[in-house]
Amino acid sequence: MSARRLVSLTESWFRKSQRRLPWRDGYDPYRVWVSEVMLQQTRMEVVLGYYERFMARFPTIAKLARASVDDVTAAWSGLGYYRRARMLRDGAIDVMTRFGGVIPATVGELMTIAGIGRYTAGAIASIAHGLHEPIVDGNVARIVARLFAIEAPLGSPALMREAWHRAEVMVESSKSPRDFNQGLMELGALICTPRRPLCGQCPLRRQCAAFVTGRVDELPRPKAKPATRELRIPLYLVIDRDGRVLMRRESGLLMRGMFHLPHGDTTLLTGTPLRIGVSAALGTFRHTVTNRRITFEVFAVARRPRTLSSEYAWIVPDALGTIPHPSYVRKALRLAGIGK
Ligand code: ADE
Repeated sequence: MSARRLVSLTESWFRKSQRRLPWRDGYDPYRVWVSEVMLQQTRMEVVLGYYERFMARFPTIAKLARASVDDVTAAWSGLGYYRRARMLRDGAIDVMTRFGGVIPATVGELMTIAGIGRYTAGAIASIAHGLHEPIVDGNVARIVARLFAIEAPLGSPALMREAWHRAEVMVESSKSPRDFNQGLMELGALICTPRRPLCGQCPLRRQCAAFVTGRVDELPRPKAKPATRELRIPLYLVIDRDGRVLMRRESGLLMRGMFHLPHGDTTLLTGTPLRIGVSAALGTFRHTVTNRRITFEVFAVARRPRTLSSEYAWIVPDALGTIPHPSYVRKALRLAGIGK
């Protein structure tokens, strides 16, 4: 498959199919910059409702740099992630003081500006200034994963690294980095969507490794789940003469305020493990919480501990419905033939 062909197909598709967007008239660097910052965490439809108003309020970098933080964030209201508005203003001040009010063209210089990272720098350099610089966001990573059948999962550093590399190689051979980079983004928005992509309308389908091998639904691979951890936790069932069960109120961050059964050594729960002589092993059961697979081992304790700190309480099993407790407690009691 020829990279050159892939690139020229993307460019001509973009010229034909692009949406009319306000910053695409003239590609002024400041207008492109604002659009890219807004689009980073906000959907296009929402951005379009705010963009012109923001630009009317701050039509030049100088005006944005002179505005107060409150004015800028007020104009940003409704777009969310207000840090972006503050960073944009910081960036404008930076451009005024260090670059005489002129947004530089190279990725190296752009990245020295407050709030401009590799993506935004690449976008301004290629879309506004027409330089051969790659850009990769989530959309581009997805397209590239499909085009080249990259197996690294979504959101992984390996996929991002590979996507930046491929994007760089492709943009090198483009006639118009502006059209090519925007073409990839536009394909990601309109055709090569995360679910049910419209491959029938895609200009790149014959060049797409995922399409050609029937793997579009598999790629990119979903985010890897964190590995599950296996854990064994001894639980102690201490019952007093009145049939009440000894429980402990958890004070750690995880499950704070919940009543637990006293436990032996574990890293999962807080509190000093209870040191008591066990009299009988009652059995084990399995329990899964998020990424932990726990085997609880339940022991009966004949002799009651003499002194107990204030976190401990004697609980009537029938009252369990009225106190907060994690579900494993009932499983343990059931295993011992207590409660419902
Ligand atoms: N999403 C973010 N930037 C974009 C751009 N320049 N064109 C289309 N979609 C985008």
